[in-house]
Amino acid sequence: MSGPPRVLVTRRIPDEGLAPIRQASTLDLWEDELPPPRDELLRRVAGIDGLLALLTDRVDDELLDAAGPSLRVVSNYAVGFDNVDVPACTRRGIPVGNTPGVLTETTADLAWTLLMSAARRIPEADRYVREGRWRTWGPLTLLGPDVHGATIGIVGFGRIGQAVARRASGFGMRVHYHDVERLPEAVEAATGATYLALEELLATSDFVSLHVNLSDDTRHLIDARALASMRPTAVLVNTSRGPVVDTDALTDALREGTIWAAALDVTDPEPLPADHPLVGMDNCLVVPHIASASPGTRGKMASMAAANLLAGLRGERLPTPVNPEVYAAPG
Ligand code: DGY
Repeated sequence: MSGPPRVLVTRRIPDEGLAPIRQASTLDLWEDELPPPRDELLRRVAGIDGLLALLTDRVDDELLDAAGPSLRVVSNYAVGFDNVDVPACTRRGIPVGNTPGVLTETTADLAWTLLMSAARRIPEADRYVREGRWRTWGPLTLLGPDVHGATIGIVGFGRIGQAVARRASGFGMRVHYHDVERLPEAVEAATGATYLALEELLATSDFVSLHVNLSDDTRHLIDARALASMRPTAVLVNTSRGPVVDTDALTDALREGTIWAAALDVTDPEPLPADHPLVGMDNCLVVPHIASASPGTRGKMASMAAANLLAGLRGERLPTPVNPEVYAAPG
């Protein structure tokens, strides 16, 4: 091959990432606000050397076939990578990169914002004022549960879950966590968190915040049964991935008062149509997948995604590969 490598970037990302990619490659940039339609994506990947994908792009065997043998790196502009069939990439010797670490605190900030807003009914209170319904101070108007001193159950205790726990300690909360395995004592001591089985965590928490990766094991982790085991006063916060929660079961649970409220940054389907029942419910707050949406964090994600892409194009190890096994010497 001669000339600069061919790269497809499937959406405009901050310049911190775009500039170095532009300098080192022949760049095909999808400029639309919406993701490339599937057939367009498949057409554009043909013969590329590197792909910078977003969580809205499905990277699977079909796409890898369409790209052909020249493709030597996939860089995902997200920490989550459930949109990428990683084993399929590994089978073809293609390293996949993601953007861990840089969005931890920003995502935890948003999880906290959702928790506070749902508890204290901020969107509803704002609508109340805008609609001219605020006529006096009301002793029973818009009451919501206290956050301070309550119990939070954190499901998935990785970087983001732990960052949420640190925020909870500032509110004098009891912190419970659940993960596939109990974490080292040092982590528990640093976060003041106690390990519980999922059933026990759900049954004893005033707030439940989800921070798991989406996988076959976590799809519909919060289903009708899990919701039924929660307190009727509980608030569910999801900043992980939409399919971790069974949307129909959540809709029923909010309608029937099985739990008190939910606050969602991620949904299934995503986006949630404006006429979806959850969008019309006062006890459900929905925001459009904005957990990492600060300029600083999105810029860092862009640099990191570019660093992964460019390393892969140079044949170097990606700074943050999700399939390091791709580098293992063939046995
Ligand atoms: C991620 O990175 O996985 C978030 O969902 C978007 O920042």
